[in-house]
Amino acid sequence: MADGGSSGASYRWQSTFLDGSAGAAQVAPSADNNKGPILEVLRRRLPALGAGGRVLEVASGTGQHVAHFAAALPGLEWTPSDATPELFPSIAAHTAAAGATNVARPVVLDATWPPEQWRRALQEGSGAEAVFNAVVVANLTHISPWRATLGLLGGAAAVLAPGGRLAIYGPFKLRGAFTTASNRAFHERLLASNPEWGYRDTADIEEAASRQGLALVAVEDMPANNHYLWFEKGSNAAPAAANV
Ligand SMILES: C[S@@+](CC[C@H](N)C(=O)[O-])C[C@H]1O[C@@H](n2cnc3c(N)ncnc32)[C@H](O)[C@@H]1O
Repeated sequence: MADGGSSGASYRWQSTFLDGSAGAAQVAPSADNNKGPILEVLRRRLPALGAGGRVLEVASGTGQHVAHFAAALPGLEWTPSDATPELFPSIAAHTAAAGATNVARPVVLDATWPPEQWRRALQEGSGAEAVFNAVVVANLTHISPWRATLGLLGGAAAVLAPGGRLAIYGPFKLRGAFTTASNRAFHERLLASNPEWGYRDTADIEEAASRQGLALVAVEDMPANNHYLWFEKGSNAAPAAANV
C-alpha cells in the first residue's frame, strides 16, 4: 500500500490488524491485550503529575486505549490524536462505551510535524492552550519512519510542561540488541513491508530525546517482550529545538 498522509507514514495497520467493526467502535485485538498492563504502569506513574493533569495521546488508533485509561484515571483530562481522522468515530464510540467524560475531541496530529505545527494543531483542535503534563504513545515507533520518532520527541518537548512525562510503549532494540529471536524476525518482516519501518534502538531514542531536554527516567519491562520508556522534561529545559 502506498504511503499515506504528508508524513509518508503508511496506515496499512488499520486494514491489517482491525477485527472488523461493531458499529463505529473498531477493535484491534492487540490493544485489548496490552491495555491492562499499560494501565498498571500509568496508574503508578501518572498520578504523580497531580489531579487535573492533561494527557495527550499520540497515535490513538481505535481509541480502545484512551477510553480504558480515561475511565480508570478520571482525575486526568485526556486528549486523543492521530495522523488521520479515519478512526475518530471509533474513539468516540469506545469513549462513550467506557462512560469516560474526561476525553476531549480527538485532534489530527501527525508526529512528524515540527513543534510549532504540534502547538498550532493542538491549540486549534482542543481550543485550549497546548500544554500537557504527559504525552503517551503506544505502538507507533516501529511502524513509522524514524522521522516520526524524532517528531514525537520534538513535539512532546514543545507541549510538555516542565517536569512533564513522555511515555513510549512498544517493541524496541535494547541498546543495540534484540531481546528475542522473534523480535528480530518481526523487525525483519516490518522492514520487508516498508524499509522505513522497524524496531528503534533505545540508545538512539535516548540520545535524540536528550537533545530535546527529555531525560530517560525509566524503562519498564512489559509482557510479550515490549518495553515502556519514560522520559521527563527537565524543569530548566530549554524550549524544544527544531527536529533534526
Ligand atoms: C499500530 S496503531 C497503534 C494504535 C494504538 N496506539 C494502539 O497501540 O493500539 C498505529 C497508529 O499510528 C498512527 N500513525 C501512523 N503514523 C503516524 C504519525 N506519523 N503520526 C501520528 N500517528 C500516526 C496510525 O494512524 C495508527 O492509528
